[in-house]
Amino acid sequence: YPPERIRNFSIIAHIDHGKSTLADRLLEHTGVITKSGKNKQVLDKLKVERERGITVKAQSASMFYEHKGDQYLMNLIDTPGHVDFSYEVSRSLAACQGTILLVDAAQGIQAQTVANFYLAFGEGLEVIPMLNKVDLPTAEPERAAQQIESAFEIESDKILHISAKTGLGVDQVLPAVIEKTPPPLGSVDKPFKALLFDTWYDTYVGVVCLMAIKDGSIKRGDRIVSSHSGTKYEVAEVGIMHPEQTPTTLLQVGQVGYIVCNMKSIAEAHVGDTFYKDRHPVEPLPGFVPAKSMVFAGVFPIDAGEFDSLNESIQKLTLNDSSVSVHKETSAALGQGWRLGFLGTLHMDVFRQRLEEEYDANVLITSPTVPYQIKFTDGTIKFIQTPADFPDTHTLQDFVESTMEPYVSATILFPEKYLGCMLELCTTHRGEIHNHTYIDETRVMLKCELPMAEIVTDFYDKLKSKSQGFASFDYEESGYKTSDLVKMEVLLNGEAVDALAAVMHKSMVVTAGRDIAKRLKEVIRRQLFDIIIQTSANGKIVARETVKQLRKNVTAKCYGGDITRKMKLLNRQKEGKKRMKKIGKVELPQEAFLSIMTKS
Ligand code: GTP
Repeated sequence: YPPERIRNFSIIAHIDHGKSTLADRLLEHTGVITKSGKNKQVLDKLKVERERGITVKAQSASMFYEHKGDQYLMNLIDTPGHVDFSYEVSRSLAACQGTILLVDAAQGIQAQTVANFYLAFGEGLEVIPMLNKVDLPTAEPERAAQQIESAFEIESDKILHISAKTGLGVDQVLPAVIEKTPPPLGSVDKPFKALLFDTWYDTYVGVVCLMAIKDGSIKRGDRIVSSHSGTKYEVAEVGIMHPEQTPTTLLQVGQVGYIVCNMKSIAEAHVGDTFYKDRHPVEPLPGFVPAKSMVFAGVFPIDAGEFDSLNESIQKLTLNDSSVSVHKETSAALGQGWRLGFLGTLHMDVFRQRLEEEYDANVLITSPTVPYQIKFTDGTIKFIQTPADFPDTHTLQDFVESTMEPYVSATILFPEKYLGCMLELCTTHRGEIHNHTYIDETRVMLKCELPMAEIVTDFYDKLKSKSQGFASFDYEESGYKTSDLVKMEVLLNGEAVDALAAVMHKSMVVTAGRDIAKRLKEVIRRQLFDIIIQTSANGKIVARETVKQLRKNVTAKCYGGDITRKMKLLNRQKEGKKRMKKIGKVELPQEAFLSIMTKS
């Protein structure tokens, strides 16, 4: 296939607007998968993704398609839809020349539609808007088309109307992609040059690199070099995703395909790296800014004896997800564990679920936190990923020049009747409103700056409930800002528990201190002694609650009853204990750790 007969494209959409369904339809339409109905969402490979209906890791597939008498090789690069993964979206986009911007005709433009449009536009891609779900009785394609016209300046009469579910209009999708997307540039006669844009670990063949071939060609036996590290590798296999790994004899300019070489670990595969052939160096392509972890949490085994097996599971999982950062951490309360960094809270949730389901791990996770910075008067800056490490700024006030926290610029879209409560929501979360504009008569787009710490907790849930599900939200990091931060500590029977510490804005100390103590009282079970819960900031006690001691023997009521009932009760208690950790004498459930950051 010469480049003129190749199209590299992706589909970008707000979550649930039908991207995976359309991808499946296209793969069926070109015979890559059969229409058995069992193939639902083949691109969403991982179990968690299927369960949650979200695409986490970008997967790609090649299709062959005849258009106006010519055969085309169509490479669909899948992109994740959720905000946490916008980094993966942009790296996938770098391998394409065009993208379908899919919009649900009933819901219209949502926050991720806007964010994804700008990502694609910024990459210089041809954006092909399409309206999906036109089969729905609630679909308002004209209105959605108007929104696209006013938000992105794309003429509304040029927009395809389709239903990925019923197949209506789907036959026009690939012709539109072929006609609107420019073919990849490059030449087969130039030295080999390829962009590594995705990588994963395959149990059978090891590290698999997905590359976009920008110039030249490559085959088995060739020796390639990483521009990033200078390491040389021998190519063992090349091929295309069809939709599984399908070996081919050659990969050449314009194509997107996989390469297996003697790479030992995924850590060697740097997304954004340029590869060239040994002794034929080329100018490297502009790489990607690596993903930054913005949400950190401690992970500890419930049973210290499981440390080694858990360590192995975490290693394996991070092989497949290089955007998780891992550092060993020791907590006085919880023992040895890890501090893991994630792109966002969904990313963290998906990771935890995979750890528990795929590796049967029994872990305790501490409350998520964002990274903080402390600037000292001598000019040094300290990065803090663990709240317990945050210094007592009151005692150290002569040495601390300022404390800083990360901010995001957020885009929120919603029907105008929620304007009042959306503005209020942003303000109560320490947000700074920039502006709001109308994208049609009744829909508002609000731009604001928010501290990232506010959105890692329950901002998203509140946004959804206050707008009855109608508001959508997306954000991008906007750097650190000075903020008056303090560490809140939790004391149980007078002992500070490091794993329960939190960093917060000074203005929140009193309310949060009381709330935390109250919530801990609710989740800590009564034990054989009184438990005194105190919260303290800068050495001052903010609140105090007591969990009264338990007097009754729980099995007492079973005396005389039959033994099976007693066993059942004991078992149920054991079950309940599963996610418990003893801190000194006090048993703390998992909920205790997560109750630190939620707001009442
Ligand atoms: P993420 O991968 O999570 O971003 O979602 P997605 O954009 O891939 O959406 P998905 O394909 O999973 O579709 C979401 C829901 O919309 C599913 O229940 C689909 O069955 C449904 N859906 C998709 N396309 C259509 C359509 O054309 N009409 C109707 N009525 N429903 C559709």
